[in-house]
Amino acid sequence: MIMKNLIDKLFRGDTLSRDELSLLIENHQNKEISAYLFEKARQVSLRYFDHNIYMRGLIEFTNYCKNDCYYCGLRKSNKLADRYRLSKKEILDCCALGYDLGFRTFVLQGGEDGYYKDRMIADIVSTIRTNYPDCAITLSVGERSFDSYKMFFEAGADRYLLRHETANADHYARLHPPGLSLRNRKECLYYLKEIGYQVGCGFMVGAPFQTKDYLIDDLLFIKEFQPHMVGIGPFIPHHDTPFAHKPAGTLELTLFLLAIIRLMLPGVLLPATTALGTIHPQGRELGILAGANVVMPNISPVGVRKKYLLYDHKICTEEEADACKNSLQHRLESIGYKLVVSRGDYKFI
Ligand code: 5AD
Repeated sequence: MIMKNLIDKLFRGDTLSRDELSLLIENHQNKEISAYLFEKARQVSLRYFDHNIYMRGLIEFTNYCKNDCYYCGLRKSNKLADRYRLSKKEILDCCALGYDLGFRTFVLQGGEDGYYKDRMIADIVSTIRTNYPDCAITLSVGERSFDSYKMFFEAGADRYLLRHETANADHYARLHPPGLSLRNRKECLYYLKEIGYQVGCGFMVGAPFQTKDYLIDDLLFIKEFQPHMVGIGPFIPHHDTPFAHKPAGTLELTLFLLAIIRLMLPGVLLPATTALGTIHPQGRELGILAGANVVMPNISPVGVRKKYLLYDHKICTEEEADACKNSLQHRLESIGYKLVVSRGDYKFI
């Protein structure tokens, strides 16, 4: 069968042409084909990672943002968002709690908030680096200059997450206001790699105006860029954004793309995202079974959780960090996987 041949081709490490990727994606609703794709993707992740799932402690330290992305609940025009910032001490308290729970990667994520000057971020990073020499520090604070990225790296940051959002410039312009461009975004990604970070890119599945061709652009960009991590999750509308009434991305297409990415980049760190867990009660487990190998539970203070609302109905906004982690652990055990206490670095294979 032609679809199985395409999947086998990816599994062997061969590349697919645009037309072949297109044909494959057209079949994402076919149960038999997707089951075969997931099986192959799972086989690859088991080969490299066994049943180990890496966990990252996500600290959402500011929801202020100077950007105005049409899809995001934290956009500056959303005057109804209840804004907050965590102090250095609050961030360090999150790390202490996370470390006790077994987290060995801390992800500092925030909107593009000018309040945190480069030296403040560098100072927070270097304190975490000193206190937790055995942990990885991941930053996710948007577009900054080469020199800023370099300063954070020298302060001890190891990894950086910056989703490219869409690899098609026209699509990028329909998701973002003028002033933000794919060109800049890509330039940042290449800077980060050049400096020596483990870098993550990614996109939203089912983002407004997304087409099959755009998704192929995303996959080809990912193949070319060779990121260490890829974050993808379904688009989910937020009620106070211009995209409030756009449909959400689907579980089926998200799982299908996760599996393709696992086959294209066998060693990549691939999270089963919170957004995936939000559109389906077993979304993250299904993500793992389609080739994902990372989860990123929230370890931010519960008091601010609901305020970091990128999209509606976000899960895990109520529980404490340990409850979040325990529930994930049980979910993973129920499908035969386990959370591991490890930095979970990228391994070249
Ligand atoms: N639905 C799903 N994901 C979203 N993000 C932002 N807004 C939404 C939304 N409405 C994603 C973006 C961003 C990441 C932090 O969250 O891809 O890079």
